[in-house]
Amino acid sequence: MLSGKTILLGITGGIAAYKICELIRMYKRANATVKVVCTPNAMNFVTKLTLQNLCKNNVYVQEFEVKDFNPEHISLADEADIMVIAPATANTISKIANGICDNLLTSIACAFKKPVIIAPAMNCNMWENPIVQQNLKKLHHTILEPETGFLACGYKGKGRLCSLDKIFDKTVELLNYKPLNGKKIIITSGGTIEEIDPVRYISNYSSGKMGLALADTAKSFGADVTLITTKDTKRDYEVIKVKSALDMKSEVEKKFDKADIVIMAAAVADYRAKEISPQKLKKSQDDEITLTFVKNPDILKEISAQKTSQTIVGFCAESENLLENAKEKIASKGCDYLIANDISRKDIGFSSDYNEVTILDKNGGIKQLERADKMSIAKRILDYIN
Ligand code: CTP
Repeated sequence: MLSGKTILLGITGGIAAYKICELIRMYKRANATVKVVCTPNAMNFVTKLTLQNLCKNNVYVQEFEVKDFNPEHISLADEADIMVIAPATANTISKIANGICDNLLTSIACAFKKPVIIAPAMNCNMWENPIVQQNLKKLHHTILEPETGFLACGYKGKGRLCSLDKIFDKTVELLNYKPLNGKKIIITSGGTIEEIDPVRYISNYSSGKMGLALADTAKSFGADVTLITTKDTKRDYEVIKVKSALDMKSEVEKKFDKADIVIMAAAVADYRAKEISPQKLKKSQDDEITLTFVKNPDILKEISAQKTSQTIVGFCAESENLLENAKEKIASKGCDYLIANDISRKDIGFSSDYNEVTILDKNGGIKQLERADKMSIAKRILDYIN
C-alpha cells in the first residue's frame, strides 16, 4: 500500500512514544521506507536501538550532523513524502506553530513542504489549555485529535494518542490524495524582466514564491506541471525559465492547447522599453532622461479569449480598494477565477512566506482564505478551483 513512499516519523517526548514502535511496523509491513527523527526528550521513552531495528534506518536526534554536505533538516525533509509527528507534545506543537526550530524535529517541520500529520498526546489539562488550543489552530497540518480515556498520568480525560489505525489510514489517504491526477497544469511565476540595455532592466518585487508553492502542490496533487518562471529553480517537474513578458507569452501559448488549468501567478510588466539598446546607454550632460515604454500584451486576457475547455486563473495585486478592483479585473480579463492579493500589507504577499487571499469567480462568488503559509494557501486554491 505504501510501496515507494518515504515516511518521516517524528517522535516527541511523551509516554505514548512507546506505541510508535508498533506504528513503524505497520508502515514497514505496508512496504514504506521509514525514517525516524526524535526530539532529545523522546529518547527518555524509547531507545534509538529499538527504533533503528524496527525502521531499518538511522534514527536522527541531534541537529548539525552533516551528511554529504546536506544539512539533515533539509535533506530529510526533501526525501520524505509525508511527515507524521506522533505523539506530538504540547511543547513541540507550540514550537512548530510559532516557527521555533530548536532541535532537528522542529527544524525539519519548519522546512517541510509536503503533507504533515500531527497526532497530539498529553495530559487532559494541557490539551484544554487555551494557549495550546490557539497554537493548534495556527497549524495548517492534519491534526488527529487525541481520544478520551484513562491517561498514563492517572487523569481521565481527553489526551490519549488516537489509535494507530487512524494514523496509518490517514497516512495512506494523504499519500494517495491526487485530485489533479491526469491534469496538465501551467503555472507562471516571478516578475518579468524587461531589458533596457545590456546592463539595465525594469522589473518588480515579485519573489515567485506563491507560483512555486502552487506548482509544488499541484505536483503533489498528481498534476503534470509546467512552471514558466523568471526565477532559477530546480524541480522534479518541467521548469521553463523566461525573462520578459513576451518570452512568457510565447511559452504559455506553446503549452496552452493541451493544458487543463492555467494559473497566471506571475507579475507581468505592463510595459517594456520601446527599444532595447544593443550598447550600454551612456550618461549624458542632461539631468533627466526620457525612456519610452510600450504596452506589453496582456497574456491572461489573450488566453482567456482563446480558451476552449481550460480553467484559467489570474492573480491580482492591489495596494488599495482590493475587492472593487478585483471585481473589475475579473470582468475585464475574462478568466474563470481571480486570486486577489493586498500588497500594501507587509505581513503577507510579495516576499513573504505567508499570504491571505480572496478568490473571486466569474459568477460573482467570493471566497476569503485566511492568512496562512503559501503552501497551505496553494492547497486551498487548487482544491477550490479544481
Ligand atoms: N497579466 C498578464 N499580462 C500582463 C499583465 C498582467 O497576463 N501584461 C496577468 C498577471 O499574471 C495576473 C493578472 O494579469 O494574473 C493581473 O495582474 P495585475 O498586475 O494585478 O494587473 P494588471 O492587468 O497588470 O493591471 P494593473 O497593473 O493596472 O493593476
